[in-house]
Amino acid sequence: MRASSQNFSIILSTNPNQVAQHNNAPVQINPMDFLARRTGVFGMTRTGKSNTVKTTVASVATVAKKANVHVGQLIFDIKGEYANANGKDDGSSLAEALGADVIRYRGLEKVGFRDLRDNFYKSLTAGLFTLQSLLESDPANTAADAQQLIKLELNEPEQAKFEDQQRYQAAKKRYDKKVALYKAILFRSGLQPSRDDDNVRFEIGQVVYKQMHGTRLSDCTDCTNDPSRVAHAQQVFGDPSNGMTLEDAVELFKEIRSANKERELKNSQGKPWLDDIERGLLNIVFGQSDGGVNLRVTRVLGPAVKAWHSPSGSDNVPRDVYQELVNGKVVIVDLSVGTESTRKSKSEAIAKYLLGRALDSMANEQEPPIIMLYVEEAHNLIGKDNDLDTTWPRLAKEGAAMNIGMVYCTQEPSSVHPNILANTENFFVTHLNNEHEVKTIGAYYDFLDFKDLIKNAQDVGFSRIKTLSSNFVVPTQILRFTPADVKKIYDAANPTDGQRAAG
Ligand SMILES: Nc1ncnc2c1ncn2[C@@H]1O[C@H](COP(=O)(O)OP(=O)(O)OP(=O)(O)O)[C@@H](O)[C@H]1O
Ligand SMILES: [Mg+2]
Repeated sequence: MRASSQNFSIILSTNPNQVAQHNNAPVQINPMDFLARRTGVFGMTRTGKSNTVKTTVASVATVAKKANVHVGQLIFDIKGEYANANGKDDGSSLAEALGADVIRYRGLEKVGFRDLRDNFYKSLTAGLFTLQSLLESDPANTAADAQQLIKLELNEPEQAKFEDQQRYQAAKKRYDKKVALYKAILFRSGLQPSRDDDNVRFEIGQVVYKQMHGTRLSDCTDCTNDPSRVAHAQQVFGDPSNGMTLEDAVELFKEIRSANKERELKNSQGKPWLDDIERGLLNIVFGQSDGGVNLRVTRVLGPAVKAWHSPSGSDNVPRDVYQELVNGKVVIVDLSVGTESTRKSKSEAIAKYLLGRALDSMANEQEPPIIMLYVEEAHNLIGKDNDLDTTWPRLAKEGAAMNIGMVYCTQEPSSVHPNILANTENFFVTHLNNEHEVKTIGAYYDFLDFKDLIKNAQDVGFSRIKTLSSNFVVPTQILRFTPADVKKIYDAANPTDGQRAAG
């Protein structure tokens, strides 16, 4: 990064209990050591790991602001301690200290937060993926129709990939029909659409209208020829090619289903107009199989999926997060609400998107944006048992080449993947009471010399620090993160260089 001349203000006041007063000198750290590097923050619970992260985030933000460089920082906030003021800690949330440069996401509505949930009507593939994973783990999935929903794919056909326009049009029509059926399932599951989303659009060919039958058509006195029959059917059932509300679409699907059951609807080539998947979806919409057996898919999915859906949600949260990082913002993803699986899949989806974009930049020989990631409980993401080819380990391992730095916290350094631990450039080690954990750390640099101190010194915030550019481990008392002080420093930071150096 081009901000190498700027120093961190992790000022380290020595702790009177552990280090003699005459050693009481401020310590500063070079930000170059952190960007595109791995930093491990190790220590037992309540020894000051999160405090270290807060200080680091604020310092990086201040340095970047001074240097007029965009550094996006992304915090996966498992406990909600970075995003929310905590009474116990004098409201020491980052959001308070860095003001408008902090963007917060949450899985529940809250003033000042963006919605982490998807809008299922917009975010079709992500929503479908969630819905299918929920269905896969539910006993309701054994029904043949539920299996059709599990098989459903909603990838919009790309025109450029079709040489033949007619084939593209046909693929697009099939896609639109499936999307309409899928949205009808969402609607029947009780997912509230926003005003904009209360609309489906698909095509029913004239040949299909002509075959529509049922009592609602019997009042036609003038249906002696095909065109008037088509026109009448269109008038009675509506024409979704101009768009119709979800409620009307459900009514239309009801007619289509009963017509199809009576006599299979055929397309212009004489083939079934509804394929197996579409018939399965149609049955799910009305909660009944072809054989008349009750299907409880929408009843089961409704409550489960509702927790993941928000009409005010984005169509692509990971993309939005990435964009804010490119803009140099601090993005805090508050994962303290929602289920374990929501947490996992949301953070994974965002991390995966970042990795993908970074790889794209590299493939196109563009400089990727500078991004710092902060993760807690790191042993779950980059642990011994994690496959090194999956998202989190890849970000940790290959991040350096992609301008991505990672700060990871854990109480169990021995559970971190040995390959990642061995490639960690910066260490912050507070108190560890377990011989095995102390030994793990002792294998790096001159940490062995600090073995007893690590094991015995329980002072909160007292940390042994080894950074890339420093030759030795330095025992240091990290300052307590105080939002009011940080805010003053941050607000006063002025760009010294008018040129935006990165983005
Ligand atoms: N350097 C420090 N000086 C003074 N107080 C501190 C310092 N670091 C942390 N604290 C205080 O100690 C408490 C625990 O700190 P923190 O939450 O950072 O610990 P942690 O190691 O992240 O804990 P956990 O493992 O539970 O996440 C907080 O109340 C915090 O304000
Ligand atoms: Mg913590």
